Amino acid sequence: MQAESALAGAASMRRFPGQALSGAALRHGVLPMPNLAWTPEVERETAHLYEKVKAVIPSVEWPFHAPYVKAINDLKRERNAVILAHNYQTPEIYNCVADVVGDSLQLARLAAASEADVIVQGGVHFMAETSKLLNPGKTVLIPDSKAGCSLAESITGADVRLLRQRYPGVPVVAYVNTSAEVKAEVDICCTSSNALKIVESLGAERVIFLPDQYLAKNVQARTKVKIIAWHGACEVHERFTARDLLRYRADDPSITIIAHPECTPEVVGVSDFAGSTAAMIDYVKTKKPKRVVLVTECSMADNVAAETGGFTEFVKPCNLCPHMKRITLPKILDSLVYMREEVTIDPALAGRARASVQRMIDLG
Ligand code: 13P
Ligand code: SF4
Repeated sequence: MQAESALAGAASMRRFPGQALSGAALRHGVLPMPNLAWTPEVERETAHLYEKVKAVIPSVEWPFHAPYVKAINDLKRERNAVILAHNYQTPEIYNCVADVVGDSLQLARLAAASEADVIVQGGVHFMAETSKLLNPGKTVLIPDSKAGCSLAESITGADVRLLRQRYPGVPVVAYVNTSAEVKAEVDICCTSSNALKIVESLGAERVIFLPDQYLAKNVQARTKVKIIAWHGACEVHERFTARDLLRYRADDPSITIIAHPECTPEVVGVSDFAGSTAAMIDYVKTKKPKRVVLVTECSMADNVAAETGGFTEFVKPCNLCPHMKRITLPKILDSLVYMREEVTIDPALAGRARASVQRMIDLG
């Protein structure tokens, strides 16, 4: 097995001249690229997975996805790897290769509990960093390290240090949509599902909340704690307007509008419910609205539609997150074959960043 991997490694180096093997490739070895033909065996072995997505993936497209799905699932076993996929991943990733799916908080918790040797993050870079912080001894891979986030990119560790100088003694809460460098400078992290609880847990009159100005305002509307907000925004959610949503409601007064709290307070104000991506999915599954607008990244509507079997009609204002969409089946396969791209965190800040995430998890 080791000899085979070494040979495959040499083949890989021929295929990518000049590209050095990552530390993960040297530790785990490189495997041969599986055959990606659409064969009767692939069709048979993936038929149960196609059943899960047939409402959202046309049958003519399945022969393109299925060989990757089979190869990835085979390689996961070989590598003792798990794929953690965010709710915004495309339906073929979310339903056919992911081991666990969820919102940022669920993925962080599941990463902390993982027993796998290798974690492949179906999501953006800050999520992979969180998985690595919680699993310092494991190999964490992200299929495309350019999968960023406009929120995470809006603030640096130096910015947080300046905020602390300006507001001495005021505790700092960071949304998990931040880099490890920022997490290392703050007191505690939060996600969209626990932001209010975390802010209030600090027992302070004022709290610095970063980097999402809209999540900050949406939390401010529900608490007496004075929130000092950074000016970041999600490039996907800030595009929705209350005016557009009111048009949907004018067309169909019975329509249910569910928004993510990264939207503006005006959008949240005209919505029937606002919550994290997992809370939005729960709302649809438990309340079973007839028609719904999910005011968030639009792959999520496909994923919920695949799971809820057609009862709810999804009206889709389709805003895609270009960063989430960088993660594809071919790139996930490359990750598992070549063990790339490995997520590493500067040891000088990893301990402090981990403590900020762990404090959030410990609050339950
Ligand atoms: P959730 O934690 O609600 O899944 O949100 C993450 C995110 O990036 C939303 O844009
Ligand atoms: Fe970041 Fe917005 Fe994309 Fe979520 S949807 S990952 S907040 S850019």
